[in-house]
Amino acid sequence: MRLRGRKGTREELERQTDLVVLDPRAYKGRWAERFGNANPIHVELGMGKGRFITQLSAQNPDINYIGIDMFDQLLHRGADKAVKARAEHGRPELRNLALVLFNIEHIEDIFAEGELERVYLNFSDPWPKKRHHRRRLTHPNFVRKYIRLLNANGEIHFKTDSEMLFEFSLNSFADLGLRMRNITFSLHRDGNPAFNVMTEYEAKFVEQGKPIYRCEVVVGSAALERHEAVLAEADKPARPSIRQEA
Ligand SMILES: C[S@@+](CC[C@H](N)C(=O)[O-])C[C@H]1O[C@@H](n2cnc3c(N)ncnc32)[C@H](O)[C@@H]1O
Repeated sequence: MRLRGRKGTREELERQTDLVVLDPRAYKGRWAERFGNANPIHVELGMGKGRFITQLSAQNPDINYIGIDMFDQLLHRGADKAVKARAEHGRPELRNLALVLFNIEHIEDIFAEGELERVYLNFSDPWPKKRHHRRRLTHPNFVRKYIRLLNANGEIHFKTDSEMLFEFSLNSFADLGLRMRNITFSLHRDGNPAFNVMTEYEAKFVEQGKPIYRCEVVVGSAALERHEAVLAEADKPARPSIRQEA
């Protein structure tokens, strides 16, 4: 991602204490205190310019959202977008979003076990060279960390334009014994699905006509039970229709 530096960005971030968190280690195990409620916490790892997480947070006031990235400029853009998204949704008072400056490699330093309900991985860097595969955010070493941080309702939602990263990631999830659902090799085949909030990268790739790969990973025990129940329901034979006597 190309970033144009601007003087004073860090100072501005330091002033935006309602949205921006520059010392996330201080909140490990205490994010509920920061949000002032015990609502579920959904995290986007590598939020970029923040379109996805700011839109979701404005749409869903009963979920707490955290967007993480490692560049000041991106957090700054995200903060601007959050203010705009809240205004557009007529909810300028919302406080359910935190934008965090941090390197995801050390994610276990900022969240306690079971503190998260959902991890979003959107268009993570593909790191094509074999010697860099360990840096992929869906490498088993990362996914093991996410599993520890997710609660009983925990899920991972992953989308990418990279076929190669998608293949790698499906194998990574499968190697860890995780269940996957709603796997698609073309999320936008019939237009943008109603549930889907597009990211900046996604909008660009869709415009170029590239397919978007997506899957959901069911991690927590309660999430798994719900998924099994949905499958069992779908498997039931259709009820015979009652024949009307003449
Ligand atoms: C390809 S961009 C995707 C941005 C956004 N999710 C989207 O779909 O538009 C990947 C983002 O992940 C961030 N990122 C990559 N590795 C990271 C790490 N270890 N810690 C924090 N952010 C990271 C990058 O800075 C970049 O903003």
